[in-house]
Amino acid sequence: MMYQRVKDKFHNIHGKDIGCIVTANGRANIIGEHTDYHYGYVFPFAIDSGIVFCGSKSESLSIYSLNFDAFFIKSQEHPKGSWQSYVSNALTFIERKYGIDIMVNLVFGGNLPIGAGVSSSSALCCGLIEVINNLYGLGIDQIDKVNLASEIEHGTGVTGGKMDQYTILFAKENSALILDCRDLSHENIAVPQEWSFVLINSGVKHNLAHTAYNDRRKDGERALALLKTELPHLTSLRDLSMDELEQFKGMLSINEYNRAFHVLNENKRVMAFKAAMMNEDFETCGLLLNQSHESLRDLYEVSCEELDTLQSLACQTSFISGSRMMGGGFGGCTINLVKGIDESALSDMLTKFNVKYGYTPEVYSIKPAAGLKVHE
Ligand code: GLA
Repeated sequence: MMYQRVKDKFHNIHGKDIGCIVTANGRANIIGEHTDYHYGYVFPFAIDSGIVFCGSKSESLSIYSLNFDAFFIKSQEHPKGSWQSYVSNALTFIERKYGIDIMVNLVFGGNLPIGAGVSSSSALCCGLIEVINNLYGLGIDQIDKVNLASEIEHGTGVTGGKMDQYTILFAKENSALILDCRDLSHENIAVPQEWSFVLINSGVKHNLAHTAYNDRRKDGERALALLKTELPHLTSLRDLSMDELEQFKGMLSINEYNRAFHVLNENKRVMAFKAAMMNEDFETCGLLLNQSHESLRDLYEVSCEELDTLQSLACQTSFISGSRMMGGGFGGCTINLVKGIDESALSDMLTKFNVKYGYTPEVYSIKPAAGLKVHE
């Protein structure tokens, strides 16, 4: 078990008492994709896999990643997006903001697939903040932690929203949260007991995903800026109505129009999904997932061929109610709504994928879990 492995490694390296142990889990998102940075709605939950951190205060700095079997070296240049770049930014931002010199012994390791779109980077940032917060008694407020983790990640080049960090800091067991990304408040919604979610990993990691992600965000923001000249009440795309979008369509390029159309309707789908889930309406929820995928594929243009193939195979597989690409896109996983897994149908689906692409996607059964845990 990861928890024990990280503890053992800490004792091997430092041979001393551990001051603080934290687990920061990854996240999945049921629906509401590419809406968070447009101040809309999302419907994520934390998953039951994550990163474990063992730390104690020290006279120097020693940070070790179990997964990469490497120590962090502060004086080195760190490639953008590497685990070291997140650690480096976290240290710099926390030191600057709280006026401390961070001197800790830290060992961390996890079982989150990297590049699968389950936000291993936010788990890393939130976990680091929590450990340092505990060791130094900084008393950082939960929302300040969300904002800090988000700033740290922006510093590495992706101008993401706050869904991932918020989910990790606030998610509770057995429920998903409807998060309002404008006022950063949420409501816990219980996931029906019989329902579960399965992630299927396309195995694709797009090198230019960061650039493409930032470009999509800019398209949406340009659409908003243009529409605002006629509709000054708009503070984000979330305030836009379908009538207004149609009326001022002529002001927008096709890309700007499509991005705005996606955001507007994806926000509606989040609310529709919430209502359907509370009524345990499995079919409607599945349809909403499929519609979300189509919109992400055709209008927001953040899917890729392998994800589209997985989604379309899922549509032909009867135990899956609905499926869509999850997270930033351009690779990573699909999320699939099921009431239990039909192993033979799943294996047929994976075989068809294998015939086309020559490899078999990994499958993860995930459960809504608490996002962050400080172990006693
Ligand atoms: C990434 C970002 C999130 C969010 C999703 C898309 O996971 O980190 O903030 O924008 O993409 O919904």
